[in-house]
Amino acid sequence: MAETGRTDKLFDLRDRIVVVTGALGQLGREFTRSLHESGCRVAALDLHAGDEERRTAFGELADSSRLLLLEADVTRRESLELALARIEKEWGTPTGLVNNAGLDSPPDASGLENGPFETYPDASWDRVMEVNSKGVFLCCQVFGGAMAREGAGSIINICSIYGVVSPNQSLYEYRREGGETFFKPVAYAASKSSLLNLTRYLGTYWGRSGVRVNAVTFGGVFNEQDPRFLENYHGHVPMGRMARADEYNGVIQFLLSDAASYMTGSNLTVDGGWTAW
Ligand SMILES: NC(=O)c1ccc[n+]([C@@H]2O[C@H](COP(=O)([O-])OP(=O)(O)OC[C@H]3O[C@@H](n4cnc5c(N)ncnc54)[C@H](O)[C@@H]3O)[C@@H](O)[C@H]2O)c1
Repeated sequence: MAETGRTDKLFDLRDRIVVVTGALGQLGREFTRSLHESGCRVAALDLHAGDEERRTAFGELADSSRLLLLEADVTRRESLELALARIEKEWGTPTGLVNNAGLDSPPDASGLENGPFETYPDASWDRVMEVNSKGVFLCCQVFGGAMAREGAGSIINICSIYGVVSPNQSLYEYRREGGETFFKPVAYAASKSSLLNLTRYLGTYWGRSGVRVNAVTFGGVFNEQDPRFLENYHGHVPMGRMARADEYNGVIQFLLSDAASYMTGSNLTVDGGWTAW
């Protein structure tokens, strides 16, 4: 019994105030729900946070006094400062931040967007970098800055296997065989790798101030992709499958909790083994 008690305390997240960005997306909804279930007060930020979005994403949870769904654009400092002011007024200074909002080029984007590197539009590069890289920088400044003033907090930057190794263009061979000129574009990969050193920078910068900063590198998540893509992807993963959307909740809870109290500036890889061979 005593052991159980100790373990419970180690991972206890009750009453933590956690900000999740991109909270209405596939993974953001999972993180919001599971953190709420663990007793956190969750400030769920996304571009659109009207009643309809709340209901669709969170159902009955939308009425919980421990869920605050706020409209905020991670690329705009004023928008983040407004969100912080609202959270502080309702609950106090956040103690957790999950930098989850992200942009990727969808597989059905324009030919230019998913075309050869040589003609990849610089406007697309800017758009992706703005959200994936600068957005995380701004959230760290605004929310992380508040945590550092209070002397406590844990920040998690969501990265991708494509920020550690290059996208494997052979996964998309079936599209090229079908006559398309399809390449997984460069900006997503470059933006995600920028977060790895932002994580190290801030982990050391805030090393003595009680704010821990870590990255998580995730593999692809199943989301009804084209069966030909799935077959190729599965062949490249030692575990032979994509992740389920709920399989990243554990690592998020771990890094926010006291179980990770000596961990900062680090990167935890959860990818079914993708980067292991
Ligand atoms: N799904 C995967 O296979 C996978 C794999 C590895 C890493 N990731 C990373 O996990 C995170 C979540 O991915 P997802 O698949 O849930 O994405 P998603 O597209 O389902 O959700 C992203 C969310 O971010 C929001 N968003 C976009 N721009 C924003 C802005 N400027 N301000 C605030 N919110 C904004 C969107 O509205 C959306 O709700 C991303 O950072 C992604 O790169 C995903």
